[in-house]
Amino acid sequence: MITLPLLPFASEALAPHISARTLEFHYGKHHQAYIDNLNKLIADTELADLSLEEIIVATAGQPDKIAIFNNAAQAYNHNFFWLSLRPTTLKMKPGSELQALIDSTFGSLEEFYTEFKAAAVSQFGSGWVWLVNDGGALKIVKTANADTPLAHNQVPLLTLDVWEHAYYLDYQNRRADFAEAVLRNLWNWDFAQKNLV
Ligand code: FE2
Repeated sequence: MITLPLLPFASEALAPHISARTLEFHYGKHHQAYIDNLNKLIADTELADLSLEEIIVATAGQPDKIAIFNNAAQAYNHNFFWLSLRPTTLKMKPGSELQALIDSTFGSLEEFYTEFKAAAVSQFGSGWVWLVNDGGALKIVKTANADTPLAHNQVPLLTLDVWEHAYYLDYQNRRADFAEAVLRNLWNWDFAQKNLV
């Protein structure tokens, strides 16, 4: 049985960048639905007692398990997305180790923002954009629909949900503005640092 984790902040804590109304639907309806669907699909199967991460690895790349993979990966991706965010009032910068890696990989934090935003805008249709550790190298990667770096042996540090349900109530079709607001105001760099080690 997989359960919906509590949000790590109050529902109004991300405003004005992400509204409480968006969270009400995104967390309360979409995320909850992935968890509920997954539990129905794994009930009374050999997957029922596995962790979310184990279910993802066990079903990745298997056409007959695609519905289970999609719901498990979406449950995981959303868990990870909430942890990637911090309340608007909490000011935060990358720690020195992460800042040095960002500088050596992308040139500067500004150039990282530009590259990440371009990836968010260019992801065709639904999906996710991630900062990952790929064998010791920082990379920005895009995954389509429910796909997740866990299925590709990459360690995620941060993610941005670019499904329309993530931003449409607040930004309508302006995905670039949504990405910009999250990058500059809501990224949880402490969480990223924890995932680096
Ligand atoms: Fe989402």
